[in-house]
Parts: sequence; C-alpha cells; structure tokens
Amino acid sequence: MRSLKVSALTIAATALFAFSAAAADGPGVSYGQKISEADVKALDIDVSTSTGAGLPAGSGTVADGAKIYAEKCVACHGEGANGGSMYGPMHGGIGSFVTPKRKLTPGSMYPYAPILFDYIRRAMPMDSPQSLNDNEVYALTAYIYSLNGLVKEDAVLDAKSLAAIKMPNKDGFVVDDRPDVKAVRCMADCTKIKP
Ligand code: HEC
Repeated sequence: MRSLKVSALTIAATALFAFSAAAADGPGVSYGQKISEADVKALDIDVSTSTGAGLPAGSGTVADGAKIYAEKCVACHGEGANGGSMYGPMHGGIGSFVTPKRKLTPGSMYPYAPILFDYIRRAMPMDSPQSLNDNEVYALTAYIYSLNGLVKEDAVLDAKSLAAIKMPNKDGFVVDDRPDVKAVRCMADCTKIKP
C-alpha cells in the first residue's frame, strides 16, 4: 500500500516537472495566440443603436426577408411571426408599453430601429447564430418592421433608411432617477462618471 502511494506521488511529481519544463520552453508552448487587427475587426460588430453608427454596408427588401424568414425563423417564431414553439409574436402591441398590459414586440418595445438588426445579427437564428450575412439581416429586419406597420411592403432597408425609422416607443423608457439609484444617462466618455 505504502509503495503504491509513493509511486503515485512520483508519477504526479514527474508529470508536474514535465509540464513546467515544457512551459518553460518558450515560444510555441503557451495559451492562445496573438490576435491581429483584422481578427479584432471581424469580432467588432458593435452598432450604436440610437444613431445607427456602425451599421454595415448592404441592404435588404421586405420580400427577401419573408423568404429567409420562412426558411430559417418560422420553426421557432411561427407563420408571419405570429408566435411559435419558442417565442411569442414579434409584431403588434404598439402603444401598450406604457400600459399595465404590455405586449412586448420589436415594434412596441424597441426605442431605436437598429436594435432589431443588431439583435438578429448577433443572436439569430438561435440554433445557428451569426450565420446570416448583412444583406439577409437587413432583409429580415425589413420584414419584421413591415409586419409591425413601420415600413412599407416595398421598403428596402440599409444603414441610412433603417436608422431613419421613427420608433413608436422612442420615449417610452425613462431614466431611473430615484435618489438612492441616481442613474445617469451616458453615451460617451462614460468612464469619467463617478459611481
Ligand atoms: C431554434 C429556435 C429559434 C430560431 C430558429 C430563431 N429564433 Fe429568434 N428567438 C428564439 C428565442 C428562444 C428567443 C428569445 C430569446 C431570449 O429572450 O433570450 C428569440 C428571440 C428573437 C428576437 C427578439 C424578439 C423581441 O421581442 O425582442 C428576434 C427579433 C428574433 N428572435 C428573430 C429571429 C429571426 C429573424 C430568426 C431567423 C433568422 C430567428 N429569430 C430564428 C428562438 C429562435
């Protein structure tokens, strides 16, 4: 029993030594790798949703959006985004946000139109996120906003026309200014604000 313990210890010590010796070998043996500017750019898909700054080039029509929707979204969101197996309706409820019976949809909730593009581009379809190209995301955004009556059926959305949509709930969110919370709205140089 004793010798078993010793040999287990010896093996562990040897393994540890081997690992540290390998780690000390320098280049080639380390965690991760340096990231290039191009790699960082590919990951940086941030959009300023209140202004549309950072929206990519490209465009999409309501009609194309309807086709892509039928292929990649309908299983979870239902026909015509009426609600499906995974999520409720994605249109309607406009005006309900400030009432006790809210129906939350992109049309009734989002204060800025680019939020929908940003959300779809990052997160949908849920079973294959970031698999859509920018034209497809513009098209899906156009389709969902057309279902909400916020763009016409022949609309073409791109960075400019998307940012120009006036959302019905633009003024529905309020800054929480209770004295014990003291929330301060900040869109630039936010590190300068003292908590
Ligand atoms: C595998 C199921 C699935 C598929 C496929 C899918 N979604 Fe979703 N989607 C969800 C779920 C679940 C949520 C809710 C996520 C949450 O609340 O965190 C969601 C949320 C959303 C929302 C937010 C709605 C809101 O009210 O704010 C949008 C917009 C959306 N999906 C669009 C799409 C589009 C466009 C496609 C097709 C490209 C798609 N989804 C495909 C499951 C799916």
